[in-house]
Amino acid sequence: MAYSPGFLVAIIVCACALSAQAARDLAEDRSIVARHEEWMAKYGRVYNDDAEKARRLEVFKANVAFIESVNSGTDKFWLEANQFADISEEEFKATYTGYKAPVSGNKGKPTGFKYANVSLDVLPTSVDWRTKGAVTPIKDQGQCGCCWAFSTVGSVEGIVKLSTGKLISLSEQELVDCDVDGMDQGCEGGLMDNAFEFIIDNGGLTTEGNYPYTGTDGSCNSNKESKSAASITGYEDVPANDEASLQKAVAAQPVSIALDGGDNLFRFYKGGILSGDCGTELDHGIVAVGYGVAGDGTKYWVMKNSWGTTWGEKGFIRMKRDIADEQGLCGLAMQPSYPTA
Ligand SMILES: *[C@@H]1O[C@H](CO)[C@@H](O)[C@H](O)[C@H]1NC(C)=O
Repeated sequence: MAYSPGFLVAIIVCACALSAQAARDLAEDRSIVARHEEWMAKYGRVYNDDAEKARRLEVFKANVAFIESVNSGTDKFWLEANQFADISEEEFKATYTGYKAPVSGNKGKPTGFKYANVSLDVLPTSVDWRTKGAVTPIKDQGQCGCCWAFSTVGSVEGIVKLSTGKLISLSEQELVDCDVDGMDQGCEGGLMDNAFEFIIDNGGLTTEGNYPYTGTDGSCNSNKESKSAASITGYEDVPANDEASLQKAVAAQPVSIALDGGDNLFRFYKGGILSGDCGTELDHGIVAVGYGVAGDGTKYWVMKNSWGTTWGEKGFIRMKRDIADEQGLCGLAMQPSYPTA
């Protein structure tokens, strides 16, 4: 076989170009492999076998690329490769959220809105229920889609403190185990309004200490359930898609919020005031515990999440308030509600 000199030159040049690229790829792969190892050690992640590890590495790599692309921009918030960095968006939504948006998008019978006639002019420019002792420490739902129970309990703890003067950590597990006759289905998801109804019908909710969280579906312990520690008399929906109405409600008490918690911006949030192109597929429940205005004039909400203290700002998130989209950032203004007592 005889090759012409020109052909040889072409091959050599091409091979060099390829190997330089391959070397870059290899270096990048090594660094992402090392970062994945460090991340595994930090979050105590162990995989069953090399095949699973290789699959998780690919997901980790894609998530890190997303996080870095956002962090290299000029936004006033930043993301982190947190405990959720090796799972895909689909897996995440199936495991760590759990809000069941009503099928019609409508929550059924309309309720009153007791704060309707509050004048916006008299509302404080900032409110933080944490500093008023109406917010219990951050909890962690773990791998159970019962955000709805944590969101419900958070706003109930708030109104109980405001109406009785006592801050009592209440039981999510009671809702997970016992509120099972309707749409609420433990780790498989539920709805805050239905949980309020359960608490009203049940004559209250017991304490976290009496009926501790297990992170799994269990059968209802009626002995524990019977020891009610706090009750509510009703609940109301904040008018949908109206952040001004939401502000009136949050100025008065912590409020349960449904939003798109499966969105990667929300999932990987680490700090600052979240803004941007977040979705509005309601799949997660949290609690609005305040609002304020940053030094540069940016208005924000303060929300309490149930993903532990390593997520976000020690478990809380600040989200941009009064945005152009009436649904609110990540749909936060679409279906807020609160208990009454
Ligand atoms: C608000 O004001 C209107 C008009 O005065 C009144 O009809 C309505 O009942 C008030 N709503 C509440 C919740 O107080």
